[in-house]
Amino acid sequence: MALSVRIEQHGGPEVMQLVEAPLAPPAAGEVSLQQHAVGLNFIDTYQRSGLYPIALPSGLGQEAAGVVTAVGAGVEHLRVGDRVAYAGGPAGAYAAARVLPAARLVKLPEGIASDVAAALLLKGMTAYYLLHMTFVVKSGHRLLVHAAAGGVGSVLVPWAKSLGAEVIGTVGSLDKAAHAQRYGCDAVIIQGQQDIAKEVKRFTGGTGVDVVYDSVGKDSFAASLDSLRPRGLLVSYGNASGKPPAVDPGTLMTKGSLFLTRPTLAHYTANRTELETAAHALFKVIADGTVKAEIGQRFPLRDVQQAHRDMEARNTRGASLLIP
Ligand SMILES: NC(=O)c1ccc[n+]([C@@H]2O[C@H](COP(=O)([O-])OP(=O)(O)OC[C@H]3O[C@@H](n4cnc5c(N)ncnc54)[C@H](OP(=O)(O)O)[C@@H]3O)[C@@H](O)[C@H]2O)c1
Repeated sequence: MALSVRIEQHGGPEVMQLVEAPLAPPAAGEVSLQQHAVGLNFIDTYQRSGLYPIALPSGLGQEAAGVVTAVGAGVEHLRVGDRVAYAGGPAGAYAAARVLPAARLVKLPEGIASDVAAALLLKGMTAYYLLHMTFVVKSGHRLLVHAAAGGVGSVLVPWAKSLGAEVIGTVGSLDKAAHAQRYGCDAVIIQGQQDIAKEVKRFTGGTGVDVVYDSVGKDSFAASLDSLRPRGLLVSYGNASGKPPAVDPGTLMTKGSLFLTRPTLAHYTANRTELETAAHALFKVIADGTVKAEIGQRFPLRDVQQAHRDMEARNTRGASLLIP
């Protein structure tokens, strides 16, 4: 029997219910996993609420780390006892144990603990593709990073600094500003208290930044467009405050021949080579100390409703974990 979280309908945190059910043996191409730590991600709230609809009933959660307990036919790269982690795939990570496709799992190197992997794999591979593929960040580039004290922000900011970028962060409170500075932000703007685009122009001598990484969406989108230099890139990669508005292509012209993209991790880790490249780049920056797991909150699995309430109320900083 294994404890897991299930939703029968979309809605608020109360739709998440704990269930105890037997675990089926792994089918061909699958493995069973005993999970030691589960990463919470904002996307879980979108799938729960129905902003990103999923087939119901369903499990929830995208990211966890643990140990392989059984291997299905045809699985070559994993054995019982291997320490592994995953990010993405079918929702259902909020569980003490589960069965899932072996192709989504990466082996953990010595020295990377399960809680570190669960906190960082999804957020860190996101930071990797945003900084190395969506826009190739080089020394001297100027970046605006929204939610700089959040889960992705706490990885993206130090990694960008290690590439030689100048990083301006936005946060929702003075307390989070201190954390964003500790992660490496050169300047921090408090959303709601300061005019973001005006402050960005001031920090950049009137020019604007080369790229904006915007995960806040609705509340930040207009300021993001106004913070770019001519021919700058807006990377809209999340909707923490709600979906951003539709954009008239003419707006991109009038604001400086801007570029706009809306990427997602699944399309940047679509095959095994891309997945392993992203994971190993992340393991390298963890090992050399560039990126640290900023685990701001740990919740027992049974407190999953509170964990979602805290995330949606902006009461979390860094990464959050569920402990089965
Ligand atoms: N496209 C992709 O591939 C991809 C992959 C991973 C994550 N994401 C996106 O990246 C974002 C960050 O994910 P995460 O899991 O690390 O979450 P997070 O950053 O830890 O949490 C979201 C943060 O957004 C900020 N925020 C601003 N306005 C908000 C509002 N009205 N309601 C709630 N939060 C608000 C809050 O920080 P402040 O209080 O400091 O403003 C909050 O802590 C999410 O939007 C997620 O969907 C996208």
